[in-house]
Amino acid sequence: MAMQRTHALSFKILAECSTTKARASLMKLPHATVDTPVFMPVGTQGTLKGLVPDQLRELDCRIILGNTYHLGHRPGPELLEKAGGLHEFMQWDRALLTDSGGFQMVSLLKLAEITEEGVKFQSPHDSSEMMLTPEHSIHIQNKIGADIIMQLDDVVHSCVTGPRVEEAMHRTIRWLDRCMKAHGRPHDQNLFPIVQGGLYPELRKKCAEELTKRDVPGFAIGGLSGGESKDEFWKIVNISTDYLPKEKPRYLMGVGFAVDLVVCVALGCDMFDCVFPTRTARFGNALTPTGTLILHRPEFAEDFQPIEKGCPCSTCKNYTRAYLHGIVENEPVSCSLLTIHNVAYQLRLMRAMHQSIVEDAFPEFIQDFFDKLYPSAD
Ligand code: GUN
Ligand code: ZN
Repeated sequence: MAMQRTHALSFKILAECSTTKARASLMKLPHATVDTPVFMPVGTQGTLKGLVPDQLRELDCRIILGNTYHLGHRPGPELLEKAGGLHEFMQWDRALLTDSGGFQMVSLLKLAEITEEGVKFQSPHDSSEMMLTPEHSIHIQNKIGADIIMQLDDVVHSCVTGPRVEEAMHRTIRWLDRCMKAHGRPHDQNLFPIVQGGLYPELRKKCAEELTKRDVPGFAIGGLSGGESKDEFWKIVNISTDYLPKEKPRYLMGVGFAVDLVVCVALGCDMFDCVFPTRTARFGNALTPTGTLILHRPEFAEDFQPIEKGCPCSTCKNYTRAYLHGIVENEPVSCSLLTIHNVAYQLRLMRAMHQSIVEDAFPEFIQDFFDKLYPSAD
C-alpha cells in the first residue's frame, strides 16, 4: 500500500471553463488562502525591490516568491533559522514560495556544471567551488520555511536538442526522489516537482506521467520562456497540462507577460511568476490593458492623466504620467511608484480571469482583453 503523505495545502476547484481548460480555484496554504489563477511577484533578496510588505498587503497580494540561490548566500540559512524563518525575518505573514536555486545558478553563472550529484558552481563571493545538491537545496528551503518549495531540477535551455534533453528529464525525476527523501517538513511545506523535457512532446508526457506517480501536492512546468517560438511554447504547455492530474495546482515557471498569462490560463495553468512586471517598472515602463507606457518618452511630458484611468492603485490615485515622466530617469521613488502600479495591474488581471471563469464568461474575457490590447482600426 502506498504511504499516504499529508500535504500542507488544499486545492478546491470552484469552476471550470466550458470552452477552454481554464479553472478557478481556492488554494489554502499555511500562511494564506490564494485565489487562482494567481500571479506571484518575485522578491529576490527577501523583499520585492522598491516595496515593503505593507504595500503588498495593500494590493491584496497573497503570495510572493523568494529565492534560495540568493537567500542561501545572504543572509544564509543558519541566520534565517535563528530569525525564525523568512516570514518572520522579512515581516511577511502571507504565503511564500522559494525556487530551488539551480535554475538561477545555471542562468546567472556561466561556470555552473551539472553532474548526477548536483550543480557545481564557483561561489560568486570568493570564487571557491560549491555544490548545490537536491538534499542541500531542500535543507536550505526547509530553513527558509516557505509555504511551497521547489525540487532541484536539471534545466537545459529550451533551444538545446538531442540526448541531453532526455538525460535532464530523467535526472530531474531522480532528483525529485532525493528531494522528497530529504524533505523534513512535509506537514507544513509543499514540495512541488517540475516537469522538464524541453520542446519534445513525448518527453514532457513521460515526465508528467512519472511525476504523477509520486504523492506530491502540486506540479510545476519548467524549462520554458527561454527563446522558443510561441507556437512551441503553447504546444508544450498544453501537452504538459493534459498529462497532469486535474485536481492539483499547476505552476508555470517564469511566465508573466499578460498575453502569455491569458493563453496559459486557457491551457489549464493556475500559478505564474516572473520578474518582468517589477523589472520593467524599474526601467520606467508601466503596464496597462492597452499596452506598455514608456514613460520617459516626450509624449508624456504634459500628459496629466494617471497611468491607467480607473486603476485603484495609490500611484494612479495620486500621480500623473507627466509627473512620472519627470522623475523616471533618476529618481528611485519612481521605481516604487511604477512597481506598485505594475503589481496592481498583474493582480487585477488574474482576479478578472478568476472571476470570469467563475461566471463561465472566460471566452468573453479573452475577447475583451485582446480587443483592448489590439484595437481594430475602425
Ligand atoms: N524558473 C523558470 N523556469 C524554471 C525552471 O525550469 N526550473 C526552475 N527551478 N526554476 C525556473
Ligand atoms: Zn495604477
